[in-house]
Amino acid sequence: MKKILISIFVLALTLSSCQNNKSQDQTDQKKDEPVQVEKKEQKDYKSIGLEYAIGTKAELGKNLMTKMKEDGPIHALEFCNVQAMPITDSMSKKYNADIKRVSDKNRNPSNLASEQEIEYIRQFSQMVSNEDQVEPIIETTEDKVKFYYPITTNSMCLKCHGKVGEDIATETYNKIIELYPEDKAIGYQENEVRGIWRIYFDKE
Ligand code: HEC
Repeated sequence: MKKILISIFVLALTLSSCQNNKSQDQTDQKKDEPVQVEKKEQKDYKSIGLEYAIGTKAELGKNLMTKMKEDGPIHALEFCNVQAMPITDSMSKKYNADIKRVSDKNRNPSNLASEQEIEYIRQFSQMVSNEDQVEPIIETTEDKVKFYYPITTNSMCLKCHGKVGEDIATETYNKIIELYPEDKAIGYQENEVRGIWRIYFDKE
């Protein structure tokens, strides 16, 4: 009886260890697969996000450049005041995504970055000042992709986001304050992170 019990016990042990091995293999496989898929997806999400960001930037930039050339910063300001949001929204519709520009030092009160986004702005600023290659930050939830990418300044931006009295003419600044009494979006230099693209889109 004892012998039988022992052999059953040994048999059970061997069987269970076999099963263990098998399930170990399976989890190993499972561990590999999603990682690969995830990497490929990340790459796709990166190119989709960049397409939306660059497309929207081009649309805003084209309109802004024309206005600056034709009418100067004060009229361009009024144009941005009225048109920046509708243009961004129309690009959201076009791409079926939720596109926003947010900043830690925002001009329009509805463009204030969240705490998390301010942390990303800090990270991007670090990358830009170190001259590191800038990679977007991508987060995924079950069905959504959250894409973040920096918006950097060039010399043209300083006419409305630079130093008051130096880059920004006093009369331009008066207009800024009239339109945005709580403006924080000044004091920038060239090639600084002015804010980020915050783009949400569906995984499918
Ligand atoms: C003619 C003045 C003008 C120029 C030039 C200009 N901006 Fe702005 N910018 C504005 C105004 C006005 C707003 C607020 C728009 C709104 O109410 O939606 C704004 C808003 C923004 C925002 C959204 C966050 C916030 O602060 O509300 C970003 C980001 C931004 N500008 C970046 C830039 C960059 C980068 C450049 C240069 C490529 C630039 N701007 C050039 C006037 C200007």
